[in-house]
Amino acid sequence: MTAPRKVRKAVIPAAGLGTRFLPATKAVPKEMLPIVDVPTIQLVIDEAVRAGITDIIVVNGRHKAAIEDHFDHAYELEHTLRERGNGKLADEMAAIAKMARLHSVRQKQPLGLGHAVLCAREAVGGEAAAVLLGDDLVDNDRDPAIAQLARVYEETGAGAVMVMEVPAGKEHMYGIVAGDMVPAGNGAGRMRIREMVEKPKPGTAPSRWAIVGRYVLPPSIWGHLENTKPGAGGEIQLTDGLYELAKSSEGLYGVVVEGVRHDAGDKLGYLRANLAYALKRPALRDAVLELCREMLEAAGAK
Ligand code: UTP
Repeated sequence: MTAPRKVRKAVIPAAGLGTRFLPATKAVPKEMLPIVDVPTIQLVIDEAVRAGITDIIVVNGRHKAAIEDHFDHAYELEHTLRERGNGKLADEMAAIAKMARLHSVRQKQPLGLGHAVLCAREAVGGEAAAVLLGDDLVDNDRDPAIAQLARVYEETGAGAVMVMEVPAGKEHMYGIVAGDMVPAGNGAGRMRIREMVEKPKPGTAPSRWAIVGRYVLPPSIWGHLENTKPGAGGEIQLTDGLYELAKSSEGLYGVVVEGVRHDAGDKLGYLRANLAYALKRPALRDAVLELCREMLEAAGAK
């Protein structure tokens, strides 16, 4: 059986507990927290759609309804907006429901990222899956991050994960990979991954290249994930499955993606993402800069 090389399906895990954002995430999934006025997951789905992905499989947890409702029609709202003469906003709301074919699968218990991805196995079927973390943003208006990874898969048939050089001393917060980096024209590049360590102890990391929120996984990932034993806290780690893939004859590429990454699942990363996206809006830019100046001055005056 030969699976098509084109990446058409994306999995978006959004079933985590979001403990770092409690109490905000008590009744709302963190993937629905807004970046200025757009839910984080909508920006992530927009990236996938711009990369030519047609089917989005959202892995939902206890907040299933909030995400499903957001990507459905809200006829009453649209009708009321039109009645009030705000047809443009009504059209924008209607467009959200038409972004892509959305499928929902349920992760009944938050048993880890690897387990969440595995929940989408049937929905993906026998082809490659793009995986985009629902709380991770990679800003690139011209060339979506997931498209950059998909090209590596379509060219080589091997899986590809986004890697980013993290500051020295922060390696223990990430899955760290090592391999020989082959530079590409624009300073970006890719490596054939030969080593992978999840959250290495201080001083033991094999490099500063960390895996972050974007993956294109070949169909063989399922077997590796099935065989992955739960680790600490009973969680099935995606990194363990990825390492098995990297060690197999198929191999795995780490790709330096062009784009600005924001970890919106972390408080500081979330604030940074909000500022960065606000500064991209011509209608907000000057006012936000002024606000920042005022706040800096006020903080400095203490
Ligand atoms: P995180 O580790 O950032 O999510 O997982 P979390 O566990 O919700 O966060 P904290 O640490 O408690 O604040 C990365 C992504 O994987 C999803 C999350 O929803 C997030 O988008 N995830 C994680 C699942 O879907 N299921 C899981 O069991 C774990």
